[in-house]
Amino acid sequence: MTCVLSVANQKGGVGKTTTSINLAAAFALKKKRTLLIDLDPQANASITFFSPDETQATMYDVFAEHPAEMAKIIRPTKDPNLFVAPGRLALARLEQQLAGQFDAPFRLKDALAPILKSYDYIVLDTPPALGILTVNALVASTHLLVPIQAAYFAIEGTDDLLETYGRIRSRPNPDLKMLGVVITLYDKRTNISRDTHEQIRATFGNALFKTRISKNVRLEESPAYKETVFTYAPKSSGAEEYKKLAQEVIQRVEEDRVTRHSQDAA
Ligand SMILES: Nc1ncnc2c1ncn2[C@@H]1O[C@H](COP(=O)(O)OP(=O)(O)OP(=O)(O)O)[C@@H](O)[C@H]1O
Ligand SMILES: [Mg+2]
Repeated sequence: MTCVLSVANQKGGVGKTTTSINLAAAFALKKKRTLLIDLDPQANASITFFSPDETQATMYDVFAEHPAEMAKIIRPTKDPNLFVAPGRLALARLEQQLAGQFDAPFRLKDALAPILKSYDYIVLDTPPALGILTVNALVASTHLLVPIQAAYFAIEGTDDLLETYGRIRSRPNPDLKMLGVVITLYDKRTNISRDTHEQIRATFGNALFKTRISKNVRLEESPAYKETVFTYAPKSSGAEEYKKLAQEVIQRVEEDRVTRHSQDAA
């Protein structure tokens, strides 16, 4: 069974893209066949792997009236286990284009169906909004991972996300599971980071991953060199922490698989 993992938080700049890129790269390094899908109109994840190419079909075309096949959009990377489906600015138009179409929330799920079995992990980088793109991601996903920045007011916005998660579970996708919450941009020297860590732990309990992602300039620099943190700075704290987080994610996904399997058998 493929894990389709939405990385979502409607708050901007909390590390969704950094987490999506480096988790996907870490899965690939662990020999998991991995697809990173860029659903953000800013296309930051795509730009980390390729230069923008206007002639190339992107995720935008998958949502079109006559949709392009996912298989035609997916591009290889330097890592033979890592593939990327690029996004582009035009994705921002979908909010209006899909408004009122009854199947709008299901476009991505339908598009993924034919390629699902080709991957162990599919990671979805989502935009900082709870609009139609994020809803499509959650409808198509088996799991949700929420990055939360260690900063004041970090938790406030998560109410809306959790409400959307609940609504998607109650109707279109009852199998969606909250895999966990990860603290990002952590700075152990500051009281703000320590306080918010405590607050996040109190709010999310066991859902909180043990691994925290610290502030690390290598994580910020690597996209500019078109590299993941693992090739750009393999010994950095960013590389170490994302490797550990990937291990925790894989463990939780595998435990969940066993639980689902035994529920099915019962
Ligand atoms: N752990 C980190 N250490 C240092 N810089 C980081 C870290 N995580 C992310 N950044 C930087 O912070 C900025 C925001 O991160 P990122 O783009 O991953 O967030 P995002 O949630 O995807 O943002 P958006 O909501 O705009 O899509 C980027 O410049 C990124 O390089
Ligand atoms: Mg982003």
